[in-house]
Amino acid sequence: ETETHYFTIDEGLIQNIFKPRNEYSHKGTFGKLAIVGGNYGKIGAAVLSVKAALKSGAGLVFALSPKCGYDILQTTSPEAMFIEGGENYIESIEVDQEVVLGIGPGLGTHDKTEESLINFLKNCSSPMILDADALNIISKDTFYIKLIPKNSIITPHPKEFERLFGTTKDAFERTDLAIQKAMEHTLYIVLKDHHTQIITPDGNVFFNITGNSGLAKGGSGDILTGILTSLLAQGYSSENTAILGVWLHGKSADFAAEKHSKESMQPTDVIKELETTFLYIN
Ligand code: APR
Ligand code: MG
Repeated sequence: ETETHYFTIDEGLIQNIFKPRNEYSHKGTFGKLAIVGGNYGKIGAAVLSVKAALKSGAGLVFALSPKCGYDILQTTSPEAMFIEGGENYIESIEVDQEVVLGIGPGLGTHDKTEESLINFLKNCSSPMILDADALNIISKDTFYIKLIPKNSIITPHPKEFERLFGTTKDAFERTDLAIQKAMEHTLYIVLKDHHTQIITPDGNVFFNITGNSGLAKGGSGDILTGILTSLLAQGYSSENTAILGVWLHGKSADFAAEKHSKESMQPTDVIKELETTFLYIN
């Protein structure tokens, strides 16, 4: 039997987790990652995620997307390399073993995409980030959740959480159910909401207090996925990735709101303000 401890993510905790960049480094030092996502009409979700990953310190970034996203991704994110995974939606996921994955933004839930994701999960044991349609695919079959590698991070919003684990009567019950599931499957659950909670596999809960209603816009979640994948690729533990990533995302949104207003700020502005946040904690 374990006891749940509740923590608030404050700047002291962030300073303990954050590792300033080593000057005696090369791009290999900071890891390789691939964002797996995009399908016709939702390539933008992959773009936002790739841009956020690039802006969060990773050494090498790949975009694994269908062919219809090739021109868009290469033009908007020339720093990222393209890996083709299908024509109009992803039908195959193939990457080198050392590449850390963030799967889901704009992915779609086509049967062929489902087949490729499930096959990939069956052959992979490294922690990864799973979001959006990757979670919607996982929700299709109760067996699928068991295929997610241990210590992976899943980032459901309330609806995605409900699809994965069922309905709860309020936010308190949802947290309790998340604790149970995180422990059962050895997963980090980032329960996205006004105040996002991070649930760890040992049953602890971290509350985030950065962020604002300017994030309540399509694309905000895709950015979080890019940030988290970037941190995991740089060697942060899954727990530190989740805590630091959620905090950075919210803090950058707070800087974006100061500059642009909560109404007008765009996910792209949040990506831009990651630089202000990194200067702030360095
Ligand atoms: N205050 C603070 N943070 C907020 C608020 C708020 N009022 N509203 C939203 N956020 C934050 C959440 O905590 C989360 O980090 O913004 C992010 C929103 O993420 P998502 O709900 O995943 O939103 P979005 O990027 O629009 O996702 C679009 O996800 O649900 C799928 O099918 C959907 O593909 C689509 C994609
Ligand atoms: Mg989302």
